[in-house]
Amino acid sequence: MKVIVTELKDHAGQEVTLSGWVYRNRPSGKVVFLVLRDGAGLCQCILEKAKVSDELFEQVKSLGTESSLSVTGIVRQEPRSPGGYELAATDVRVHCQAVDYPITPKEHGTEFLMKHRHLHLRSQRQWCIGKVRHTVIDAIRRFFNDNGFVLIDTPIFTTIAGEGEQTLFEVDYFGRKLHLAQTGQLYLESAAMSYGRVYCFGPTFRAEKSKTRRHLTEFWMVEPEVAYIDMAGLLELGENFVTAVVKAVLASNRAELEYIGADIEALEKIAPPFYRLTYSQVAEILTSEKTAKFMANQLEEFKAQKADAEKHIAELEEQAKGGGIKKWQAEKNARELTRLGGELSELEVKIQNNPEHARLAADFAWGKDLGGSDETIISLMHDKPVFVTHYPRAAKAFYMRTDRDDDRVVENFDLLAPAGFGEVIGGSVREDDYDILLQKIHEQGYEPETYQWYLDLRKYGSVPHGGFGLGVERTVAWITGEKHIRQCIAFPRMMDKVYI
Ligand code: 4AD
Ligand code: MG
Repeated sequence: MKVIVTELKDHAGQEVTLSGWVYRNRPSGKVVFLVLRDGAGLCQCILEKAKVSDELFEQVKSLGTESSLSVTGIVRQEPRSPGGYELAATDVRVHCQAVDYPITPKEHGTEFLMKHRHLHLRSQRQWCIGKVRHTVIDAIRRFFNDNGFVLIDTPIFTTIAGEGEQTLFEVDYFGRKLHLAQTGQLYLESAAMSYGRVYCFGPTFRAEKSKTRRHLTEFWMVEPEVAYIDMAGLLELGENFVTAVVKAVLASNRAELEYIGADIEALEKIAPPFYRLTYSQVAEILTSEKTAKFMANQLEEFKAQKADAEKHIAELEEQAKGGGIKKWQAEKNARELTRLGGELSELEVKIQNNPEHARLAADFAWGKDLGGSDETIISLMHDKPVFVTHYPRAAKAFYMRTDRDDDRVVENFDLLAPAGFGEVIGGSVREDDYDILLQKIHEQGYEPETYQWYLDLRKYGSVPHGGFGLGVERTVAWITGEKHIRQCIAFPRMMDKVYI
């Protein structure tokens, strides 16, 4: 009977067939211990020489990593096997013998792995991140579908700029210049006037010139839009939504989170209400004595961590020199050394950047948009996500509603994920007054004719409305603790890199 690894528990004592790839192959005399990876999980298969022909036994013994095969055998409970069960093999069918699989257990650089992305996706860590991403997307759809939202698929070829003309990808559309969607929001606003609550969910394109760990040129964004909602309602929707997504991942992917070393305890704390700060409060915090101290403490902490890592590295190197350690221990040490090396270079970057980030915060002037390092500081200071609201009008998109109590600011918000991850959501109440919106379109230097249909929404039954956008890759990066969002999409696109 054909089964997958996660079904083994229902077949103890029975004969089944698993099909997959060689994850690890460890021959030992008359037995081969082969860990098979079938896409659903891992299972140790034990093949004894006496059970099969000599020829087959020799073939299995020499199978390289990622060779494909089907193994038939009896399911046995075995706590030491990766999934709790093992297979006592009685037959093996080899489909493809892989020789010299390029990705080996030793550590590879990012550049190498990205060039081998088509293979790297099979690695345990990438597999875990992909599973979390799957749950995040499923939870996003469930949340909106269960709360009365209607899915609207907004166009990818667009005539309008939602988020500024600097990041538009231009396309030649039969001789006419169009661009790829930066957001579905403006179209979604018109759909909200039809259905009340709507959302769009799709690929989003931005010609971002920044090569940061938070920027892709193609990413996935979900955007809800609601008629008759105000700031308080939007923030509540946002915190309930993010909480539902995190809860779904905790419920479905605990093993994956554990494998990748995510901070499960921190994720378990995610529940409404999130913190709420105005932009002006954030400006005060950034320039405060408290932040200066916080940054100085961080620097000390990084230095201490660096010293620890260096000490640990020296110990492992000493052990290696001494020799006399078992092969598995040497391999484990080698992996630990590469991990520590990575940690060390990250700490060095942090130590190098800290003074500059501290200076940027101290010099923060009201009116500027928050920079990545400012977001990081605020997000590090909080153990739960933080809404930052009411940014200066001039720093934000034209469609955001001017605050009628203070026209220097708009009714918008960003949601900063905790632990330094920074913005995962951007949203706002939309300007619903025809004249104010028209003026803002003029101020941006946009063609009012292009935006006429958008202005129409303010003419025919305008209502208070708003929404937000959540970036999938940033959310997955935050939840998994992955530092760079390029690891959170199967085939990332960045300004300077399209690997495969
Ligand atoms: O803050 P942004 O630009 O907001 C909008 O696009 C609004 N139209 C959304 C709305 O109100 N309907 O983008 C929203 C989110 C960000 O918070 C971030 O998570 C993600 O989209 N994002 C990116 N993710 C990866 N790479 C990029 N270059 C991103 N730009 C934005
Ligand atoms: Mg934003």
